[in-house]
Amino acid sequence: EKSGYPHFMLKEIHEQPQTILDTIRGRYSYESGEADLPDIGLTPKQFAEVGRIWIVACGTSWHAGLVGKYLLEEMVRTPVQVDIGSEFRYRDPLIEKNDLFITISQSGETADTLAAAREAKQKGARVVSIVNVVGSTLARESDGVLYTHCGPEIGVASTKAFTSQLAALYMLALHLGRVRGVLTVADGKSWLDRLVTLPALVKHVLGREAEILAIAKRYYKKPDFLFLGRGINYPIALEGALKLKEISYIHAEGYAAGEMKHGPIALIDKDMPVVVLAPRDRLYEKTVSNLMEVKARRAPVIAFVAEGERELGKIADAVFTIPDVHPLLSPILFTIPLQLLAYHIAVLRGEDVDQPRNLAKSVTVE
Ligand code: M6R
Repeated sequence: EKSGYPHFMLKEIHEQPQTILDTIRGRYSYESGEADLPDIGLTPKQFAEVGRIWIVACGTSWHAGLVGKYLLEEMVRTPVQVDIGSEFRYRDPLIEKNDLFITISQSGETADTLAAAREAKQKGARVVSIVNVVGSTLARESDGVLYTHCGPEIGVASTKAFTSQLAALYMLALHLGRVRGVLTVADGKSWLDRLVTLPALVKHVLGREAEILAIAKRYYKKPDFLFLGRGINYPIALEGALKLKEISYIHAEGYAAGEMKHGPIALIDKDMPVVVLAPRDRLYEKTVSNLMEVKARRAPVIAFVAEGERELGKIADAVFTIPDVHPLLSPILFTIPLQLLAYHIAVLRGEDVDQPRNLAKSVTVE
């Protein structure tokens, strides 16, 4: 059932062009530039009445939520508060009637996410869940559901579920942006044009797996890794670090690039590779100057950049390029090589990537 792949994780990584397509397919109307989400549970009028937006999730799904904040704030122009399930439920949150409460969960059974959704519902919020497992508890208890439709995920490290959660968040942001009148028909069409190109771009990146394997071979014995990103790719730095620690047991930390000088720089030396995500956006120059400081401390720099970029190629020890896409779409394209990097490093270290120690696929206890 691994379709010829040595591990479920690698099979699931390679399924992503298809699974991302499955998340968006048949769910939009191009003519009106709108997302068509029949199970979303709220009428356009109810969406228009939404006060604040919350997103609550755990682990990798929480990282998707952090990306969702950027997407929603940009496309819906409404502030979004993102919380970890176990933090939200124990602090008497200031949630109000008519707030939109979005939960994200692959399994739909994560105890803390479920408890948070119940609390939000009891306080009068409208709960919409982005879930993979059809008929799961979270899906049943929510007012509306947006299934990711990426099929069963067997590897304990979440991969295809994450990119489908991101794809679902684009659809949700598009829907909200349109029904709340922030996005025009033309804006909606532009977003759809960009979204439908994603599967082919993901496939293109996957086709360059050998480059990632070569990078993994150079650095797999290092004891610590730092992952840096900014803006919408800061959560992807967190996700890259989580993937690496989960399956290779290497100590890895994700940081907002601008925070480096506020502490983590003290750790940097020649044995700590620094992985940096640097799309060509308005923060690019700032990231380059962060990396000059990393280089001054002789740490190896592994840079993930957009095609056509020149400067980091000169500073970095290893470079991987992704297609140059709209900045809001770059998180999915940066995620793919980070998944492959974690996978190959773990395999080179002889670890069991599908069944990492101490971890369960679904965390149904608090
Ligand atoms: O099923 P969920 O999406 O609610 O699970 C949340 C986390 O337990 C999960 O993402 C976990 O962090 C994974 N092991 C990440 O690879």
